Amino acid sequence: MPDTRKVTVAVNGKSYSREVESRLTLVDFIRHELNLTGTHVGCEHGVCGACTVLLDGAAVRACLLLAVQANGKQIDTVEGLADGDKLNPLQEAFRDHHGLQCGFCTPGMLMTLTEFLREQPNPTEAEVREAISGNLCRCTGYQAIVAAALDAAKRLTKSGG
Ligand code: FES
Ligand code: FES
Repeated sequence: MPDTRKVTVAVNGKSYSREVESRLTLVDFIRHELNLTGTHVGCEHGVCGACTVLLDGAAVRACLLLAVQANGKQIDTVEGLADGDKLNPLQEAFRDHHGLQCGFCTPGMLMTLTEFLREQPNPTEAEVREAISGNLCRCTGYQAIVAAALDAAKRLTKSGG
């Protein structure tokens, strides 16, 4: 008999409850139990950042957490960034600066930068590079992502947050 627990979370403002195996990772819970497949899985051991989500507002690697550790908490995933068809300022900046190619790293980049720009609304290029240093991108060479993040900071400041 597998050891199961009930997990209740709010994801992008919507409440979900599921009975899951205690050892299920948070990223597998998000993808396979909640069908929110925008969050990606790469290395599965905390190195690539593809699985980054916000847990009670803080960026975490969802491959390194168990679903049961998120019980009672709020999770934000990439699906919650846009308002319907309307991209948020960070997503618009990624689009305008070609901050993605294959897109595999993009959800993790966006969630990492969402937390970072909230904490540091007027960053330097060096601070942006430091912020995304734990998110691997195999396509862009990072320059376009950094440009997008710096532009997003300006757009967010203009729009009041
Ligand atoms: S899949 Fe979680 S850090 Fe790579
Ligand atoms: S856009 Fe392909 S890994 Fe970043």
